[in-house]
Amino acid sequence: MPIAPSPLPRRQVQRHSVQRHSVLTVPALAGLLALSAPGSLDAQAAGAAMPPRPTEAIRARSGMVVSASDIASQVGSQVLASGGNAIDAAIATGFALAVTYPTAGNIGGGGFMVVRFPNGRTTTIDFRERAPGASSPTMFTDSTGTYSSRIHHNSHVSVGVPGTVAGFELAHRKYGKAGWKNLVSPAAALADTGFMVPTGLASSLTGARTKLQQYAASRAAYYKVDGSPYAAGERLILADLGRTLGRIRDGGRDGFYKGTTASLLAAEMRKHGGLITEKDLAEYEAKERAAVRGTFNGYEVISMPPPSSGGVAMIEMLNILEGFPLKEAGHNSPKYVHWLAESMRRAFRDRAMYLGDPDFSKPPIDRLMSKPYANSLRATIAADKASPSSPADVTQGYESDETTHYSVVDKDGLAVSVTYTLEAGYGLGAVVEGAGFLLNNEMGDFNGKPGLTDSTGLIGTAPNIAQPGKRMLSSMTPAIVARDGKLVAVVGSPGGRTIINTVMQVVLNIIAFDMPVQQAVNAGRIHHQWLPNRLTVEREGFEPSTLEALRAMGHDVRVGGQQGTAHSIAIDAKTGERLGAPDPRDRDAGARGN
Ligand code: DON
Repeated sequence: MPIAPSPLPRRQVQRHSVQRHSVLTVPALAGLLALSAPGSLDAQAAGAAMPPRPTEAIRARSGMVVSASDIASQVGSQVLASGGNAIDAAIATGFALAVTYPTAGNIGGGGFMVVRFPNGRTTTIDFRERAPGASSPTMFTDSTGTYSSRIHHNSHVSVGVPGTVAGFELAHRKYGKAGWKNLVSPAAALADTGFMVPTGLASSLTGARTKLQQYAASRAAYYKVDGSPYAAGERLILADLGRTLGRIRDGGRDGFYKGTTASLLAAEMRKHGGLITEKDLAEYEAKERAAVRGTFNGYEVISMPPPSSGGVAMIEMLNILEGFPLKEAGHNSPKYVHWLAESMRRAFRDRAMYLGDPDFSKPPIDRLMSKPYANSLRATIAADKASPSSPADVTQGYESDETTHYSVVDKDGLAVSVTYTLEAGYGLGAVVEGAGFLLNNEMGDFNGKPGLTDSTGLIGTAPNIAQPGKRMLSSMTPAIVARDGKLVAVVGSPGGRTIINTVMQVVLNIIAFDMPVQQAVNAGRIHHQWLPNRLTVEREGFEPSTLEALRAMGHDVRVGGQQGTAHSIAIDAKTGERLGAPDPRDRDAGARGN
């Protein structure tokens, strides 16, 4: 039985302005350059209308792109319309997001791409940032040996060697179809000629003023000469970023990792006490890795292996939950939320204990994702009582809330799920002088100091301690669902550690509760991460009586804001249509089909 989405209060209904478009027809790849023409994207981007939270997904016969920026979705969709495949469209969308969604879209960060080919084969591209060569386990301590949150999260030492350009280049070289230049040109043109600032970006840049204006290059790039923010509908031109994208367009990965861009980045590091050198940049490599795969009631769930913890933790939780009568209990009922929270508690403990870069240690992922292991964990879950979480073991670390996920399906059913990030919103907040792109602060995803595990939320376990060349542990969970050899859905989300739980709940909404994809995306979400021992629920979507029942079981229930933005695509099993479901929690998001 389909589950109705919870109604939203009027205030929130009015705030959403997700862009929803079905069919775009652009005849030739050459037409992509027209995207930079003033006015061509601006009408949508300025987004005057504020439609209510949608109940229906956008349908398209052939291809679909759903991302946090309608402008970027349009770029990707036009690549599809021009004969590119989903890999090409994902790359073009990713580059465009680096211009139009600077809080998380990037060329200065990193992420993961999960791919399912029409014949059912799967693969992943790991373009996670790496620790520079001068890194060490104690690099986040000050001169007295004391752990410093500032060094860890808010200094040029917190910048990892960026992976995005190398990841896109690897994906394109192995699986792309369109010419590389055609994939970078739209983004370069958007930066060069500018685009109308959409409403979400205008308010985001207003909120990020203090952070970004610490750095002269960030202030010059993203604010007016007097330091005031751009209003929605005003044109933002990012000239230095346009030139860097031009070098990437013309020189491929070398346009970023060598030559002018690399020297500018290395100079930025020298000026601000950062560690990344031109050698670190030249040596960066993206990697192709086998996807992790789990099953749930006949569905196949495909996701990212370490260095992301996302796929392993999600499959571990799905295995536990498969043994409970979820549908019978009812969606977001007290029983269901209790089972979710207890599964999360167990998987997040294992995440902290075992997971890190597989090139440096061998996490026991087969055991963690096995059905017998899940059975043993399920047996420890009481019917109506919350388990304890002990700070004597491992505790959680700092987590921010800014990353972005997008989903792409092409006419052949090739599916691409990409989550990438700068870590915090706008990363470190620093734009590289002369190169125009924002730096990540991803080194903050390494553990702070060996052995330093405490109740303030630090983890000091070995697998995720910084070392030269190592990739920091991630929670990003780009995912693809299939059944009987057919594509079912493409899902993912930002949200730090909440990502894993958000993605799992959207997946469960589709495969355990048979919800249509837009309702699956809209539905209220919960989060538990073992420590701190609390259960966070979104404000919308939960009955007060449910929260009371959970409290009676011993859960420390906190009502929070929005959790994640899961821009997803499902396939209509009857018609084969692509159903684009932008998450209305993201104001500038858009689904673009053709
Ligand atoms: O890789 C990770 O798990 C984090 N750096 C992601 C950060 C994040 O999702 C913040 N965003 N919403």
